[in-house]
Amino acid sequence: MILVTGGAGFIGANFVLDWLAQGGEPVVNLDKLTYAGNLGNLAPLKHDARHVFARGDIGDRAVVEALLRTHRPRAIVNFAAESHVDRSIHGPAEFIATNIVGTFNLLEAVRGWWSALPDAERAAFRFLHVSTDEVYGSLGPADRPFSETTAFAPNSPYSASKASSDHLIRAYHHTYGLPTLTTNCSNNYGPLQFPEKLVPLMIVNAIAGKPLPVYGDGRNVRDWLYVGDHCAAVRAVLAGGRVGEIYNVGGNSERKNLDVVRTICEILAQELPGRDYAALITFVEDRPGHDLRYAIDPAKICAELGWAPVETFESGMRRTIRWYLDHAAWLAAVASKEYRQWISLNYAAGMA
Ligand code: NAD
Ligand code: DAU
Repeated sequence: MILVTGGAGFIGANFVLDWLAQGGEPVVNLDKLTYAGNLGNLAPLKHDARHVFARGDIGDRAVVEALLRTHRPRAIVNFAAESHVDRSIHGPAEFIATNIVGTFNLLEAVRGWWSALPDAERAAFRFLHVSTDEVYGSLGPADRPFSETTAFAPNSPYSASKASSDHLIRAYHHTYGLPTLTTNCSNNYGPLQFPEKLVPLMIVNAIAGKPLPVYGDGRNVRDWLYVGDHCAAVRAVLAGGRVGEIYNVGGNSERKNLDVVRTICEILAQELPGRDYAALITFVEDRPGHDLRYAIDPAKICAELGWAPVETFESGMRRTIRWYLDHAAWLAAVASKEYRQWISLNYAAGMA
C-alpha cells in the first residue's frame, strides 16, 4: 500500500490513475476535497478495490495516524496543498494552514508511527514531498535555469508556503532521519487541471468565446511539462531516488505566456474550426509581484534516474486540448458557483 495525499486534485489524480494502470500497489488516497479536489477525477476507480478514498485533512493528526495504523503504507506521496498563486494573493491564510501547518502535522504523525516500525520497514519507508520550482524565485532572461542548489527566494504567499514545507521536509530528514525525497517541478498542464490555471482557463474560455485574459504584457516565461511526465518523474524518484535528496523536474520547454496562449488558439483552430480564437486575447492587469521567468535544469533526475519527458510541448498541448474538448461534462461539473465567484473576483479589474 502507498498513501497519496491530495490525490483528488489535478496532479495527484493523474498520479493515482497512472500508478494503478501500471500495476502499482494499492493506494489509500487522503484528500480534503477543497474546491480543487474532485472525486469525478477518480471515477474510473469507482469499483476498483485497489483504491481506498479517505476524506480528511493532512493537518488532522488523528486521521493520518489512523490511516497509517490501518494501512501500514510503505511510502507516502504528498501532493496535498493549496496550489494557485492568485488565490494566495487574495487570501494567504489557507496556504499557511495547509502548506505549512498541515505539512508539519503530517510529518509529526508520520514521524511518530515510522519511529516505532521494525528496523527493516523503517529503512525501506519513503516520504516523497511534491514541490515546485517557484521556491527558487524569479530568473532574469539570461540567468541559468534553477538547479537543486539554487538558493530559495520565494516571492508569493504560495511559493513562500511551499518553501517552508520543503524546509520542514529537509529538517525532518536531517534531525530525525526520516527517509524523505523532494521533487521541485515546473508548470504542469494536462487532463483534469482545474480551469483557474493558465492553460485550462484559456481552453475553456476560448471554447466558450470568452476573453483570454493575459496578465501584463504576456512576456513572463514558464517551463511547461505534461502532467504524465511529472507523474513518471515522481515514480522514478520514489523507486530510485537517494534519501534526503532533492530532484528538479522540468520539460526544457520554456515559453512566454503569450506564445502559450497563441499555441492553444492555433491548435483549437484545427480541432474546432470556425472561430478566430486569437482575437479573444485580452491584456489585463498584471498579477502583483509576478515572477518574470522560471526554468528548470533537470540534469540530476535525467542522469541519476534515467527520466526524460515523453511529450513535447506541442504534442502534450494537443492531447490536453483534445481531452478538454472530449470532456464537456467534467467541465460543466467543475464550473460551480464558487468557480464563477473566483473568476469574477480575480478578473474584476480587467474584463467585462
Ligand atoms: P490542486 O490544487 O489541483 O490539488 C490539490 C489537492 O489537494 C486537491 O485535491 C485538494 O482537495 C487537496 N488538498 C488541499 N488541502 C488539503 C488538505 N489540507 N488536506 C488534504 N488534502 C488537501 O494542485 P495540483 O496542481 O495537483 O498540485 C499538486 C501538488 O503539486 C501541490 O503540492 C503543488 O504545490 C505541486 N506542484 C504543482 C504544479 C502545477 O503546475 N500544478 C507544479 C509543481 C508542483
Ligand atoms: O511553476 C510551478 C507552479 O506553476 C506550481 O507550483 C503552481 O501550483 C501552479 O499553479 C503554477 O503556477 P503559475 O503561477 O506559474 O501558474 P498559472 O497557471 O497560475 O500561471 C501561469 C502564467 O500565466 C503566469 O505567468 C501567470 C499567467 N496567467 C495566469 C492566469 C491564471 C495569465 O497571464 N492569465 C491568467 O488568467
